[in-house]
Amino acid sequence: MPKIKFIEASGEEHVVDATAGQSVMQAAMDNLVPGIVAECGGYANCATCHVYVDAAWTDELPRPEANEAAMVECAFEVQANSRLSCQLTVTPELDGLIVRIPSSQMG
Ligand code: FES
Repeated sequence: MPKIKFIEASGEEHVVDATAGQSVMQAAMDNLVPGIVAECGGYANCATCHVYVDAAWTDELPRPEANEAAMVECAFEVQANSRLSCQLTVTPELDGLIVRIPSSQMG
């Protein structure tokens, strides 16, 4: 099972076992990781699943599709490595993925 490390803004880390095929957001929800709200349930329509992808992993992920790119701009404190975790599909190659959770999901 691919492991994903979520790091809260406080620095607290959560390493979870994810399942290939599910979204990074769903892996967080299944493991009660704080700070991932996912109000829309994964439809790239709320930006409350916003994460910052660790620099070592940004090139390993597919580029965002247009709907994700548009919606992530609505997130709080957007950075160049901002992604919507509901649009990131877990694959075996993403074992060890590190994402950081912003201090807030609301602007
Ligand atoms: Fe709503 Fe990801 S869960 S945009």
